[in-house]
Amino acid sequence: MRTYTNVKDLGNLKSAVEEALEIKKNRFAYKHLGENKTLLMVFFNSSLRTRLSTQKAGMNLGMNTMVLDINQGAWKLETERGVIMDGDKSEHILEAIPVMGNYCDIIGVRAFALFENKEDDYQEKILNQFIQYSGKPVFSMEAATGHPLQAFADLITIEEYKKSARPKVVMTWAPHPKALPQAVPNSFADFMNEAEVDFVITHPEGYELDSKFVRGAKVEYNQDKALAGADFVYAKNWAAYADPDYGKILSKDRSWTVTTEKMALTNNAYFMHCLPVRRNMIVSDDVIESPQSIVIQEAANREISAQTVIKRMLENL
Ligand code: CP
Repeated sequence: MRTYTNVKDLGNLKSAVEEALEIKKNRFAYKHLGENKTLLMVFFNSSLRTRLSTQKAGMNLGMNTMVLDINQGAWKLETERGVIMDGDKSEHILEAIPVMGNYCDIIGVRAFALFENKEDDYQEKILNQFIQYSGKPVFSMEAATGHPLQAFADLITIEEYKKSARPKVVMTWAPHPKALPQAVPNSFADFMNEAEVDFVITHPEGYELDSKFVRGAKVEYNQDKALAGADFVYAKNWAAYADPDYGKILSKDRSWTVTTEKMALTNNAYFMHCLPVRRNMIVSDDVIESPQSIVIQEAANREISAQTVIKRMLENL
């Protein structure tokens, strides 16, 4: 594996999940693969889970790990070609990336959508420059349009908790005070559309996601109808994707918050969220603290999804 940006990079998804569950049983079995190899994690944005779980995954595989926070302690990077660099940005990304590539064997990149220009965001300009100019295998640690390590961990978690061969999985939009990118819901849809699940997306009108990710999924605008009989409820906020509202907040309607009453409509569903989560905006205290909440187990599987991806990259060096 040279790149990991979407579900297709995993090849056969069932095999990838089986491999991940094997790794989980003995996460130090492949320590030899990473001997004298270095993982560089580059963050343009904040993180708790991705930073710790990916670093742990690299260490499980015997790698040395380095973390660079671009906006704290590194030179500010210019990302546009042709700009006269007379402002506060000291270095161009076209020099910085190949320099970084020289110091490591595998690179993880986190670079969120900026919401300044939809085309720039959806072209994944920063992630793709790392792929093009680093000379090293590159994986996404959440980019502008996808968070495939999160979605892989989500699928592993569903596989562990499902009670039927083909569970009903509902991804519901929920309110949030800030405009959030579509990366997590895009990748979750990307994975669920390839998994053995009945997948439903529910959101208020105006929050339609890119059809490239929604594909054949059922979209239901009535949240109560969507939740009926659900085995898993995956809550997430995202800002509008469609023009002319790209990046805007269209609603903060708290009737979409996942509450005990909403969960009562389901088939005793498990509650999932990628975290961090705003309590009593996205989900009520009662639901996230209930026995049906598997958000901590889901976060724990981030180590496993990262380790599976990095292992495959090490095997291909
Ligand atoms: N879910 C997730 O990616 O968490 P962090 O933003 O804390 O890394």
